Order: sequence, then C-alpha cells, then structure tokens
Amino acid sequence: MDRNLALEVVRATEAASIAAARVMGRGDNHLADQAAVTAMRNSLNSIPFSGTVVIGEGERDEAPMLYIGEKVGTGTGHPVDIALDPLEGTTLTAHGQPNALSVIAIAEDGCFLHAPDTYMDKLAVGPRAKGAIDITQSPTWNLKQVAKIKKCEVSDLTAIILDRPRHEDLIQEVRKSGARIRLISDGDVSAAISTCWKETGIDILFGIGGAPEGVIAAAALRCVGGEMQAILKPRNQGEIDRAKKMGVKDIHKVYTTEELARGDVMFAATGVTTGDFLKGIRFFGGGASTHSVVMRSQTGTIRYVEGIHHFDRKPPYYA
Ligand code: FBP
Repeated sequence: MDRNLALEVVRATEAASIAAARVMGRGDNHLADQAAVTAMRNSLNSIPFSGTVVIGEGERDEAPMLYIGEKVGTGTGHPVDIALDPLEGTTLTAHGQPNALSVIAIAEDGCFLHAPDTYMDKLAVGPRAKGAIDITQSPTWNLKQVAKIKKCEVSDLTAIILDRPRHEDLIQEVRKSGARIRLISDGDVSAAISTCWKETGIDILFGIGGAPEGVIAAAALRCVGGEMQAILKPRNQGEIDRAKKMGVKDIHKVYTTEELARGDVMFAATGVTTGDFLKGIRFFGGGASTHSVVMRSQTGTIRYVEGIHHFDRKPPYYA
C-alpha cells in the first residue's frame, strides 16, 4: 500500500469533522451525520486512489452515500478497502459533548472483517496490557490480569464502559472488583483508542457496542500496538442471517485484533469535539483549525496533524 495514503485520506476526515462541527450542539443527529457523510464522500472522491467501502454507512438500499461496496476516490492506483465512520459520536456532536471523531481506516483487499451492522462485545487494552486479556473470562479475571502486568492494584485501574442498561451486570461486577469506572454516553471507538494513551488514564474497555465500530477501533489498535478481542452479538435471527450472508461462519467466534483488521493497516482520525487524544474543530473568521492523528501498523508511526483551513482559498465541503 502507498504509505502516503493515510496522509491523503486525512483530508477527508478533516472535511467531515469541519462539516459536522459546524452544526455542533443543534440537537440534530441527522443534520450532523449528513453533513459529515456528504463532506467525507466529496472529499474522498477528489483523492487519487481506488477505494472500496467495506465498513460504511450501511447497505446500499438503506444508505445513499458511503454504503458498503461503494467505490471511492478517483479510481487510480492500487485498490484498497476502506472502513469509515464520517461521524463517530453523532449524539455527542449534536449535544456538543467530548470525543466525537471522524475516522477512516485503510487496508489491503479483504483484510477487514466484513462486520454486519449489529452489536459486538469488545474488550480492549493498550500496548502495556497486550496479551493479558481473554474475553471468554470474567471482567474480574481480566482486571486482575491487567493489574498484574501493569504492576498495580485492580483499584488503580480505570475501565471505560458505555452507559447502557445492557451493561448493568458488567458495571456491578467492575465496581465490585474495586476498579474505577468511566461511564460514557457514546463513542466506543475513541474509548478503545484511549486505552493506548497513558495520559487518558484509561486501562481497559469493556462492553457491547456497534460491530462496525469494533473493526475501526481494531484498525487503530493494530497501529498503536494495543489489543482487542470481540464477539458478535446479533439481536435477532435477521441479524444472524445478515452476518452469515456477509461471510460469518461461526456467530460465537472470538475475533482477535488481527482477525478484525489484518495486514498493513492505516488509520486517520480528526477530532470533531475535543476529546481524550484529539482537539476538536475551532472556527475563526474565514476558516477553521483541525487536529488529526495518522497512524500505520507496519511502522507504528503516529503522526499528529494540525490543519489551518482558509475557506476563502478552499471552501469547506459543506459550503
Ligand atoms: P453513532 O455515532 O453512529 O451514533 O455511534 C455512537 C456509538 O456510541 C458507538 O460508539 C457505539 O459503538 C454505538 O453507538 C453503541 O450503540 P448503541 O447506542 O445502540 O448502544
């Protein structure tokens, strides 16, 4: 893969973030999502590459843009698969809350799990705890393992968990173990990645969130050297059938980080609202500033990109 591709597609995460941030706090999820999707698609289609969306906005019949199977880019160069989420944290953006991102991951053809639009149970840790976790074991067992490898007490650890009724038992168990908890209203891609940044103070992610988001988070963790384990959690027979149609043979399978995102993976994300590892969009008269991260699994290089955008010279994609 062209090593500069991630530096190219960061233009698209920047465009999507600027568009979504423009309508931050309006309380309108659809407006924010549409703004991000349109901007990302228009931007992607101006980039000289040949991408196929494998994780996107949904099936062709339900998503008019960036649907699974859609070709993006100008169509030149080596073909690659794209896993994207123009706005990860739609409600966060609509409410002006932290940790909304725009993300794109890239890999060679067939290297991303073709995840159905269902739920996924996820367990994620940063590089220091890689190899210590097992999703088939209890949260308490996993916390003890992470504490052991980090040479601390379970009570020194912080788990991040989506605040959902389905996690009631999980939250009770983690509380009982003595670990601290950060409950979040949305955004488990950012949450999974936050386990890899020491400054966030987050040690482990537990819980069920979107399956497509799981693949995107795994791509990021591959680049940073963290670990994710996951099991699909379809809610009904329809979702099981859909998963099977997408090539899933064993619905109870435990996926490793590499099975979610294989090979040489690149990842780009731009902050929409300020979060644990990215600053949000700042607007100024006639422009905006962006803060992005660009990473690659092969080299482990992590680049932060600060962008200053002048709308009189290059109009934003929402204009
Ligand atoms: P959206 O930005 O698409 O709304 O997703 C936000 C999110 O919180 C994800 O980070 C997470 O994986 C998923 O939704 C959880 O789904 P649910 O809100 O149904 O529990």
